[in-house]
Amino acid sequence: MKKRTKKLLSVRGGGSAHPDFSVWRPYTQMRTSLPPLRAVRTEGARIHLDDGRVLIDGTASWWTACHGYNHPHIREAVARQLAVMPHVMFGGLTHDPAEQLAERLTALLPGDLNHVFFADSGSVAVEVAMKMAAQYWLNQGIRTRTKFLAFAGGYHGDTFATMAVCDPEEGMHALFGPLLPRHVIRPLPRDAAGAAALGQFLDEHAESLAGILVEPLAQGAGGMIFHEGEVLRCLRALADRHGLPLIFDEIFTGFGRTGSLFACEQAGVVPDIITLSKALTGGTMALSAAIARTHIFAAFLSENAGHALMHGPTYMANPLACSAALASLELFAAEPRLAQVEAIGAAMGEQLAPCRCLPGVRDVRVLGAIGVVELHRIADMNALKAALAAAGVWVRPFRNIVYLTPAFTIAAEELAFLCGAVRRVLERAPGNIA
Ligand SMILES: Cc1ncc(COP(=O)(O)O)c(C=O)c1O
Repeated sequence: MKKRTKKLLSVRGGGSAHPDFSVWRPYTQMRTSLPPLRAVRTEGARIHLDDGRVLIDGTASWWTACHGYNHPHIREAVARQLAVMPHVMFGGLTHDPAEQLAERLTALLPGDLNHVFFADSGSVAVEVAMKMAAQYWLNQGIRTRTKFLAFAGGYHGDTFATMAVCDPEEGMHALFGPLLPRHVIRPLPRDAAGAAALGQFLDEHAESLAGILVEPLAQGAGGMIFHEGEVLRCLRALADRHGLPLIFDEIFTGFGRTGSLFACEQAGVVPDIITLSKALTGGTMALSAAIARTHIFAAFLSENAGHALMHGPTYMANPLACSAALASLELFAAEPRLAQVEAIGAAMGEQLAPCRCLPGVRDVRVLGAIGVVELHRIADMNALKAALAAAGVWVRPFRNIVYLTPAFTIAAEELAFLCGAVRRVLERAPGNIA
């Protein structure tokens, strides 16, 4: 342990949970949280730990590993690319994996979502999408549209621009409120009254807005909250009425998670900009994209160099990641992923339903391959997490939510084990669910 860390430990009174603080962990109170489990190998829907235990994975690693871990088709594609060109900068250079991937994505997406800007994480893709919408107006000489409309329950990332469009109360970022630009966060228009209220708000304030940003059908990290396609059709109509770019953040929902390849297809709505990441590479590599329709892209075409999109993450369009994404899309074409999602949804619906009768459970809901058991509250998160791992599953509850987003290739018996473990753990309610 390094000297400074030792000093910190002695000054702050120890830290027995984490013997070494050299790795600063995500969303983790390093003083009080459980030490992380040590993963040594993954395969399919399983995570192997260094102590020999094997956990059935209920998260697909933050919703990325949609084909299961280590799919040979993706592994081989990445290995082939690794041998010839792991990375090359994308400024002034191009390469086949990026061009083929852009072609493939635009062919799969509805409407004229034809212009792909690659980035390296979900948050950055959302930032790029916001920048596209804001500059769409600036390039037309309109400088007053400085706010975005986003929604209660939403989550769009952890960077400063994206924190400002997350739910300010429910999200993890309330602390930063005073540092963030103020946007407009409203309830989703879930019914006629909500649609009328939002309509009226926009009639009065649309001119200050640069765009509307929403996670379609399922708000993920904000609480696994679902809504109907009608909500998105309402947003499309309102965006059209005021000429506002409508951004769908499909970083969670994209690539089959809600039952269709993209959530926007289920709603029959074409957004003006869509963001993708997470399952884009089948859970292999970091990659994201913000993809715009032609009228957005056209606002950047100009003799004026200042009208260009001034963004360029160093590792954007990384060839290894693009190869992984191409291989992942081939798997969606060759294997029955959406049928698997439907079967997973049906099984989770049946197998999680008994949780409804357990004390402390507020709601059980399923959409696509997302299964949610919402509790009234989780008082001792550490105890719940430990109980789940002890039951042989990798499930990461947050706030008052226990959810399953398994790989689409999970075997029926693995899924039954996963749902059974959640039921059993919640039944025993290790003193922490009220
Ligand atoms: C809908 C949505 N948008 C954006 C992000 C941010 O992605 P990243 O963690 O890759 O920055 C997430 C991550 O969970 C997400 O679910």
